[in-house]
Formats: sequence, structure tokens, C-alpha cells
Amino acid sequence: MMEHDLILVLDFGGQYSQLIARRIRDLHVYSEILPYDAPVETIRPKVPKGIIFTGGPRAVTDERAPLPDQAIFHLGVPILGICYGYQLMARLLGGQVVEADTREYGSAVLTPDVTHPLFAGVEPETVCWMSHTYTVSEPPPSFRVIARTPSCPAAAAADDRARLFGVQFHPEVVHTPRGNDILRNFIRLCGAKDDWIMENFAEETIARLRAKIGGGKVLCALSGGVDSSVAAVMLHKAVGKNLTCIFVDNGLLRTGEAKAVEETFRDRFDMRFVRVNAETRFLSKLSGITDPEEKRKIIGAEFIRVFEEEARKIGAVDFLAQGTIYPDVIESGSKHSAVIKSHHNVGGLPETIDFKEIVEPLRDLFKDEARRVGLALGIPEGMVFRQPFPGPGLGVRCLGEVTEEKLLILRRADAIFREEIASAGLSRDIWQYFAVLPDLRTVGVMGDERTYSHTIALRAVTSLDAMTADWAEIPHGVLKIISNRIVNEVPHVNRVVYDITSKPPATIEWE
Ligand code: XMP
Repeated sequence: MMEHDLILVLDFGGQYSQLIARRIRDLHVYSEILPYDAPVETIRPKVPKGIIFTGGPRAVTDERAPLPDQAIFHLGVPILGICYGYQLMARLLGGQVVEADTREYGSAVLTPDVTHPLFAGVEPETVCWMSHTYTVSEPPPSFRVIARTPSCPAAAAADDRARLFGVQFHPEVVHTPRGNDILRNFIRLCGAKDDWIMENFAEETIARLRAKIGGGKVLCALSGGVDSSVAAVMLHKAVGKNLTCIFVDNGLLRTGEAKAVEETFRDRFDMRFVRVNAETRFLSKLSGITDPEEKRKIIGAEFIRVFEEEARKIGAVDFLAQGTIYPDVIESGSKHSAVIKSHHNVGGLPETIDFKEIVEPLRDLFKDEARRVGLALGIPEGMVFRQPFPGPGLGVRCLGEVTEEKLLILRRADAIFREEIASAGLSRDIWQYFAVLPDLRTVGVMGDERTYSHTIALRAVTSLDAMTADWAEIPHGVLKIISNRIVNEVPHVNRVVYDITSKPPATIEWE
């Protein structure tokens, strides 16, 4: 296995921590994030070529300010402190940090010392992005100032002998146009080789998984979504038939979904694949239930039960695999989050099954990075670029009581919507697009006859992370085709409406 150089990011809780690691990987050096208080005993064996301290929400002058293991300064590894990380270095190494007269937030003109290698190739006057309340008024004695802004006289400082660098601004955000150059310069100062690509990640992770799991048995709850699919393929390449994937068809899947997942994983990848046909079981549990939260709970609980039963049939499983990605880790809000995420990520996985360990090969990656790994592993594009699909599936898109008849209508309408968006070439521009079946009938007229039938709502949004979203401006001509096809091809539908609400105030899903 080829090893690659590592830049470690110590996360002090900053808004952009994950972005820093991501920027470093985009510059072709592998980067991982560890919590700010990771002990040096954890850091040393990783042999990082460089370390970055991130920003953070606390004041370094605060008694409870998060601090790193201070032995880190004796590792002899270059460190770059960003914002809070820089102030931290100042405080710990004998400088001064004070509350600034005014909180600085936004663009500032930066005047760097362009003879310093951290600013190699940067113009003598450039723009940087600031977001801070505190400021380094006096860098530590061994440091010299290497950049300033009008309101921040020590906007960057360096101790070249110790290879310690600090910047008050954020080089990782796009609003610092030369930020990537500065990060690249830091990588060079670390002597890290920029020879890392996503394919390496796949290869190295597979080798690591093989070494870790050995002959043990692994179970993976495969939803067919990109994250669990990529995790499953990596594990399959690592341990082959010692991996069993469990795919639960809960009757709330979209047209063709179960078949596509089965064909990809059982047939194309030749995986040990268990498809559990649990449609009747889920639908009977949902019978008569109209409250959205209750529906979600029932679906989640039933999923766990099915999964547990299948796991017991397989027996003596050592590892549980999950497709957790970095945003999931953040959302779980815990750095010791393996158990919490087993609930969060797959909509709730059992605690009671006796696994030795949880393996999460993607936990340092972003969604688009996971997608790149997926492509590198040969997963079909259709799978890799699938839009997100909620755990409770069509259960939360079939409003009110979920019945087989309503699901049939919803599936047909949804399939038409997806076909037309694909043929208009819009599928990669829209974050999510799907049909909803409101619990609503309206009057219409078809062939001179009065109708009293269902309404289909179309929902399509653009988004970066699903936290906020805007409704997608699908061309009217495309909407017209979709509407015509739905009322003509789907029985019991006489009206189609388009949801023009952003998130907030609405959510993406209707329930
Ligand atoms: P909302 O509706 O809250 O959805 O704006 C945000 C994103 O999350 C997806 N979603 C879920 N995903 N399990 C999931 O795995 C769930 O229970 C769930 N509920 C919503 C939704 O599709 C959107 O991408």
C-alpha cells in the first residue's frame, strides 16, 4: 500500500473546520480532522507533515477556552493557526490577545510580506475574509508580523525557525481569493507531497479495512443511497463474501428502486446481498396512521426490527458498516459519536446487536467527495448521482394515511416527473425533485365528465446542503409536459400543482 503525506486539522469548533480539510484534499494532500484535544499519543503515530488549528467560537482569553495538548508544539511539525487557532498560539506562546474595538466581519484589504514563503505568489495587496472579535495585539516574542490589514496590525505572523504560522483571516473561504495559494504555500512549508487523489483514498481505505477486519464478518444496511453504496463497495473489495448487505424493501420505495439496487449490488458487484421483502409488514403497521411523526417512528422502529432479525439469522457479526459522511458527524454534535450515528445515519440501527465495532470508511469526506470515490470504484453514475431520498421514503410523501392505492398513484407520478427532468437534462442541476400526494381531492372535468380526484404536488429544490433550499425554476415548457403526462397517464389524478416555497419557511419534504 502506498502511503501519502497527511495534514492534520485540529477542530476547535470553527464554522469552516471541515472546509479546511477539504481544501487541503483538493490541493492533493490527504487531510483528516481530529478533535482539538486529541492527545499527542494519537497524533504522533499518524506522522502528520503539518497541523492546522481551526477557528472556533470561544474567546482564547476565556478560562474554558478549548486548548490542544500542548506537547503538540514539541512534535517539530509545522503548525498553521487560523483565527482562533492563531490567537491560541499567541496566548500559549507568550503573545497578547485582546478584544478588538470593533468586531471585524467581512472583507479586508491584506498587505502581506510577499517575500515570506507563506505568501509566495500573492500580490502585495489582496483581499482576505475576516470574522473575529478578538485579535492578536502582540505576537509571541519568537514571531514576526508578516501581514496586516487596516484594523489588524498583526493579521499574520510567523516563527520561521519553529515553523509556526498564524493568520487572523480565513484562507479556506472563497472570499479570500488567494486563500488556496496560501494553503498551498503552507503545504510546501510542511514538505508534504501533493500526490494524493480520490482513487488513492479508495485503495488505501480498502487496504486498511482489510487489515482491520481480517476474517471477521461485516454487516451493512444498504439503502441504495450514495453513502451506504460507496461504503458497501469498499468493504466488499476489502473482505468479499465476509460482507453481507441487507436491503429492506419496505414498500415505500420509488418505481424501479429495489430492482436497481439489487441488480447493482448482487449482480454487478457479486455481493452477498439480502433483500428483505417487508412491504406488507410495513404497510400493515402504517394502516390507519395519519400523524407524520407517528408514521416516521413506526417506519424507523420496523426497520430496526427487520434488520435485527436478519442480523440474528447471519449470526456472529463482528462489525457494523455505515456510510456516515462528515456532515453526519457534525450533525450528531458529538466527537465520540459512533453509537449516536448508528441511529442518526441509517434512520436508527439497533443498539442491542452485539457488534464489536462500527466501521465508517467515509467519515472524513463530504458528499461530493464520497461521490468521487464512488466513481473511482466503478459504481454506475446513476447510483452515484442519485438525489437524496429520506429514510421513511414515500411514507412521508404520501400525506395522511399510507395505502397501497395511494402509493401506486404517487409512484407513477413520481416516475414521470423523474423521467422528464432527466430528459430535459436538468437532473444534476436540481438537488431534489419528487412528487407528493396530498390527502386532497378536487373537482375537475375530463371528457365532459365531472371528476373528483387526487392532486399531485411537484416539489423541486436547489440547495447546497439541504439546510436551506429554494424552489427550482424549472422551465414552464418542462412543467407543462410533466403536468400533461401525469393527468393523462396516472389514473385518479386530475390536478397538478407546483410547490413554490423555499426552506425556510417550508421544509423540503412535506411531512
Ligand atoms: P427537510 O424535509 O427537513 O429535509 O427539509 C432535509 C433533507 O433531509 C432528507 N430527509 C431525510 N433523510 N431520513 C433521511 O435519511 C429522514 O428521516 C429524512 N427526512 C428528510 C430530505 O429528503 C432532504 O434531503
